[in-house]
Formats: sequence, C-alpha cells, structure tokens
Amino acid sequence: MQDKKYWENRWQLDQTGWDLKAPAPAIMELVLTNCSKEDKILIPGAGNAYEAATLFQEYGYVNIFICDWAEQPLDTFKKRNPNFPKDQILHINFFDIKQQFDFIIEQTFFCAIPVELRKSYCIKAYELLVQGGHIMGLLFNRNFDIEGPPFGGSKEEYETLFRGLFKIRRLENSQISIKARQGSELIFAFEKC
Ligand SMILES: C[S@@+](CC[C@H](N)C(=O)[O-])C[C@H]1O[C@@H](n2cnc3c(N)ncnc32)[C@H](O)[C@@H]1O
Repeated sequence: MQDKKYWENRWQLDQTGWDLKAPAPAIMELVLTNCSKEDKILIPGAGNAYEAATLFQEYGYVNIFICDWAEQPLDTFKKRNPNFPKDQILHINFFDIKQQFDFIIEQTFFCAIPVELRKSYCIKAYELLVQGGHIMGLLFNRNFDIEGPPFGGSKEEYETLFRGLFKIRRLENSQISIKARQGSELIFAFEKC
C-alpha cells in the first residue's frame, strides 16, 4: 500500500526515479500560457517542485501552493527557496486539503496513488477547485510491465473518470515531453463543470 510511510521511505532511500531535476517544459508552458501571476495554484504530490520554485522566483507567480505527504522534499524545497511563503507549503495528505484553488497542476501524482483511489482523486480535485477552475498537466498514456507506482492509464480511461465532473478542454499527446517520456504522455486541461 502506498501510504505516507511508503513515500517517506522512497525519499529516504533516494528511490526517486521520477524526479526530473529541473522544471518540466510542458508544465511550465501550461502555467505560463493559462494562469495569471495572482491565480491560486496547487501542485499536489509536488516532490522537489522545481516548477513551483521557477514560477515563483523567476516569473512572479506569488500564489503557488505545494503539497506532499513526505517531509524530505519539502524541507529541501524550503532550504532552496527560503523566501517562498511557508504557509504555501502543505505537508499534508492531498485528500485532507481544505482550501480552494483556481488551478491544480498534475505531474506524476495521479499515477502514484493507488488505482482504487482514482475516482476519489477526481472528486477531491473537483472539491478543491473554484467554479470554472481547471486541473491540467500530464498523464501517462501507457501501462507498465511491473507493479506500480507508477500506475499507467489511457485517454479513454481518463475521459471516463473525469467526464461528468469536468469539461474535457484538452486531452492529446504531449509534444514537449522530456525525452524518456516522449510518446507516452498526454497533456490535458479539464474545467470544473
Ligand atoms: C512520483 S512522486 C512525483 C513527485 C513530483 N510530482 C515530480 O513529478 O517530481 C509522487 C509524490 O506524491 C507524494 N504523495 C503520494 N501520495 C500522496 C498524498 N496522498 N498526499 C500528498 N502527497 C502524496 C509522494 O510523497 C511523492 O513525493
């Protein structure tokens, strides 16, 4: 079971193969072209949160919140970004967040949670967004041979899961994935109904 302890262990053992060591170009483009600097933005399961750091430090996005269950990446983030507002760093289970946001940014968090929680993720994302708010980011468009995480998925599966709560504004192959993920990621933007 991928509980809090599981993720803390992954960080402590440095088993963080998902970590890009830099902001993902597709995520940066999504935020820079869709969000204003004042929009309240949540990045759940943010890990080292390179995008949040760059958007805050270099582009003046002042209302970004990052969330992670594991303390280690958040401590590292605080050390690297001492001027990032502490109340925007949420050391909490995503499912326990109580605030509302204009945008939720998804990158390798959805694929990290157990598959049986996917519908709960959709409902929680819906609750966390203001009316007309958006969830957007990247989702895997493939399955994996070994037991996850990551847990894969397909365009059809995501459409079925999110439709009803969200309008599917965009769901297509990502053209600016990092090399190792080229051809296996969908870029998406869903608007809260
Ligand atoms: C695969 S990593 C991805 C990290 C980051 N998004 C990235 O792309 O580098 C998944 C992250 O989600 C966090 N996580 C898993 N379940 C969580 C939950 N229920 N609430 C908050 N964070 C969670 C883990 O601690 C881990 O840092």
